[in-house]
Amino acid sequence: MTTDEQRATPLTPVLSRYWDAPRSWTLETYRAHAGYRALPKALRMQPDEVIATVKDSGLRGRGGAGFPTGMKWGFIPQDDPAKPHYLVVNADESEPGTCKDIPLMLATPHTLIEGIIIAAYAIRAAHAFVYLRGEVLPVLRRMQYAVDEAYAAGYLGHDILGSGYDLDLIVHAGAGAYICGEETALLDSLEGRRGQPRLRPPFPAVAGLYACPTVVNNVESIASVPAILRNGVDWFRTMGSEKSPGFTLYSLSGHVTTPGQYEAPLGITLRELLGYAGGMRAGHELKFWTPGGSSTPLFTAEHLDVPLDYEGVGAAGSMLGTKALQCFDDTTCVARAVLRWTEFYAHESCGKCTPCREGTYWLVQLLQRLEAGRGTEADLDKLLDIADNINGKSFCALGDGAASPIVSSLKYFRDEYVDHLRQGGCPFDPARSTVWA
Ligand code: NAI
Ligand code: SF4
Repeated sequence: MTTDEQRATPLTPVLSRYWDAPRSWTLETYRAHAGYRALPKALRMQPDEVIATVKDSGLRGRGGAGFPTGMKWGFIPQDDPAKPHYLVVNADESEPGTCKDIPLMLATPHTLIEGIIIAAYAIRAAHAFVYLRGEVLPVLRRMQYAVDEAYAAGYLGHDILGSGYDLDLIVHAGAGAYICGEETALLDSLEGRRGQPRLRPPFPAVAGLYACPTVVNNVESIASVPAILRNGVDWFRTMGSEKSPGFTLYSLSGHVTTPGQYEAPLGITLRELLGYAGGMRAGHELKFWTPGGSSTPLFTAEHLDVPLDYEGVGAAGSMLGTKALQCFDDTTCVARAVLRWTEFYAHESCGKCTPCREGTYWLVQLLQRLEAGRGTEADLDKLLDIADNINGKSFCALGDGAASPIVSSLKYFRDEYVDHLRQGGCPFDPARSTVWA
């Protein structure tokens, strides 16, 4: 395989275009890079025209589920003037391996703010919120700094750019619970309650924040909107595929020579992305990877050429999710990686439903035993049985996500689990693995 073959699809830096520029986060730098040029254009359009443009672009939610963004905006009912509409940006990024929204907010917070103003105008909201992880204080400060700059420049507040449109934007710090990234738990938390998922339907578009029509969108989805408005739908559709158009941020991590965020068209392959990232670290081979964070079924080296879009990854038996490509090489014990993820899900389970609350606990117990080389082969089937009782039977997607690495690791690496039992311990020398260092 030549380098040219590895890099057949070019990178398309749009969101990340000037992340390395000096003081990239300031209003001055944003304006110097065509910032806030989409906003006056949007404000001259009717709100429904803005929604139609985003619908036509085919932009799909970048938070994991890939739901069409314009369609979600179009769900907001317009027939009850007594109920305000809200826009809530889900900036609670916490899926293991996912590291795109936080760099985006640190590097170019105004991209997100311009997208928020356009989206809020389109859905006729006068209040918008950014729900951000409270632990990442530098990001919180940077967002607030940018919001203050935007108010001072007349992009937020009363009569934005003389259009007659008013919008207030609040940056809200969450308290660091993975479940608060689930959109309805996030809304509960924003309302001041303990964050636990609500029953859907009704979806937030009908009854969200304070039981009013609410759009909840991911940071990257909203930040993509100004470029679409500025450059047009046809431009956006020159990238990606018919059903998964556009550019997106892939997070490469693990045993990769140059980990980081790579912005490319949907449909690029991991083989191509590794071509840009310098491949796996010297002297080692790719063993397994996650296409969309640890909630998505694992892939192996045989999936290097799967197109990384919603259809391609789905057809190959996984999900594109958050596009968090965690790559593990031949020194990694798969049982140990799966145990680590499962401990995370057990810890973060909110406890509302029995399959997830009890199931994740028992998965950890069994995995701890297996990884230490104790237990029996029957435990492997027990793992699958518990995963089956969680998957599709839990109240929210956290349960399904916890079952994914169990089922897929047993599909591809059952022999490695059995080796633990035969050898009475982990066949991998932990000292050689850098993953857990
Ligand atoms: P979902 O498919 O149930 O919903 C996606 C979005 O579409 C939601 O905003 C929902 O309100 C909306 N929607 C769906 N059907 C609708 C309808 N009929 N009417 C109105 N609105 C509708 O997915 P969910 O449970 O919201 O998210 C799961 C995804 O989250 C997973 O795929 C996972 O990849 C991702 N995830 C992301 C994390 C992160 O850190 N970014 C963390 C954990 C999971
Ligand atoms: Fe809570 Fe887990 Fe049930 Fe989701 S699946 S509601 S996180 S217990």
